[in-house]
Amino acid sequence: MPCPFLGSMNQTFVRNYASVLVKQYGNFCPIFSRGFRTLGVDETKCPFIQKNSIISEAPKEMTEDIVESVNTYKYDKFFSEQINAKKKDYSYRIFRKVSRLAADGLYPQALEGTENRRVTVWCANDYLGASRHPAVQDAAISAIKSYGTGAGGTRNIAGNSQMTEKLESEIANLHKKPAALIFSSCFVANDATLSTLAKILPGCIIYSDAGNHASMIQGIRNSRAPKHIFRHNDPSHLRELLSSSPASVPKLVVFETVHSMSGAICPLEEMCNIAHKYGALTFVDEVHAVGLYGKHGAGIGEERGVENLIDIVSGTLGKAYGNVGGYIAGSSLLVDTVRSLAPGFIFTTALPPPVLAGSLAAIRLLASEEGRSMRAKHQAIVRYLKLSLLVAGLPQMPSVSHIVPVPITGADKVALVAESLMKRGHYVQAINYPTVARGEERLRFAPGPHHTPEMIDSLITALIESFHENNINFNQFMVNGACRECSMEYKVDIAYEEPFKYPIAA
Ligand SMILES: Cc1ncc(COP(=O)(O)O)c(C=O)c1O
Repeated sequence: MPCPFLGSMNQTFVRNYASVLVKQYGNFCPIFSRGFRTLGVDETKCPFIQKNSIISEAPKEMTEDIVESVNTYKYDKFFSEQINAKKKDYSYRIFRKVSRLAADGLYPQALEGTENRRVTVWCANDYLGASRHPAVQDAAISAIKSYGTGAGGTRNIAGNSQMTEKLESEIANLHKKPAALIFSSCFVANDATLSTLAKILPGCIIYSDAGNHASMIQGIRNSRAPKHIFRHNDPSHLRELLSSSPASVPKLVVFETVHSMSGAICPLEEMCNIAHKYGALTFVDEVHAVGLYGKHGAGIGEERGVENLIDIVSGTLGKAYGNVGGYIAGSSLLVDTVRSLAPGFIFTTALPPPVLAGSLAAIRLLASEEGRSMRAKHQAIVRYLKLSLLVAGLPQMPSVSHIVPVPITGADKVALVAESLMKRGHYVQAINYPTVARGEERLRFAPGPHHTPEMIDSLITALIESFHENNINFNQFMVNGACRECSMEYKVDIAYEEPFKYPIAA
């Protein structure tokens, strides 16, 4: 039978104060006291049963940490259920330890794991390697030496340096807009701009592309404005929805130029023209296009000569520009309105000096002749990868941009293939829900001008082996370097340095 005295107490308390309890009450206990009696103590009755509670006699320091068991919310139980659900459907994310190297001859390699194994990185959005370009690095280092590492406060209080204004003016010029505004990231830029505009424009209705990035979806949700979703990159659906909207009401049409996960490019001109016909403003995310398309790297708008059709352009400093931060550019009044009213802009520390200087240097670099040559190399190596996949018979999604997605259905399968590739020295992150819909899992390759044809050949061999290792069927076109059907030797003969035909208007 358990002791009715000890059993009435909190067990942690009993454990913590066992020795004190024995010393203080042991001689009252009929069981313990037998031992004590031999020491000359004569007390045989349990005071717990005999009298009222002995706890009331306990010294204060022993009773004050008795914890009454109250039925409070079980936070840990809740969080572990959330995590378990993610683990069960394979969408739980485990970050790889991958430290990308910047030194000449080492980029685009990285140190992987705790053993610092060398791997080639295929999935960084530092698309052109601007983060390790000497001009960008030097600018960032010299800004740290002159101005320190941090901005010291919000733009209003301590962070409005000359460099901040210089960067905004550079961005505005790049996009041929009167004004620009920088944010901590483009996620924040999209969220803050859309939520603010759609909230303050009276009765605003939003028309949002079904493939839009989470940052735009977040901004639209936060605005609580009514919204219509049009089919991804489908101008006729956009027209259909807009045609039944009230003419005098403010409207925003929101979409991306280069889609982040499929590499599709939208029919920009058509979509903008439709939006304007129905009196809407166009909000266009050029995050995966800035630095990469157009004569000066301003994006698809510049490449197609239709920048003037974009009312608000958003871009990132964190991908092709190799730094961190985001921005919008548009009319002075619109930009000033967002600057004055968007909490996501107002109440946060400004971008730090090295980022401002590094971004400014990167934008200038990619607008220059050298930038154009980097873009030409970029497009050539992308083409080489796409053709190599084709020849090997490996699947790829029909991307028209620099993003090369290889579909592998099933979160478990795509993770296994990524793991097999890592074993073979190639790092590419498996893309799964919620970044893409369930069933649309993929490996997303983003080769850059520093990847070589030899690296791609090695990647293709590793991909073939990894597909086999994980029992994924595909129609291999080449077997041992020869055509499967006719045994003719086959070479992927694509000139890597071939002159790039730049599709720009003037
Ligand atoms: C289409 C798109 N828009 C916006 C963002 C957010 O950009 P940032 O990384 O600067 O927050 C991303 C990020 O991946 C993106 O893919």
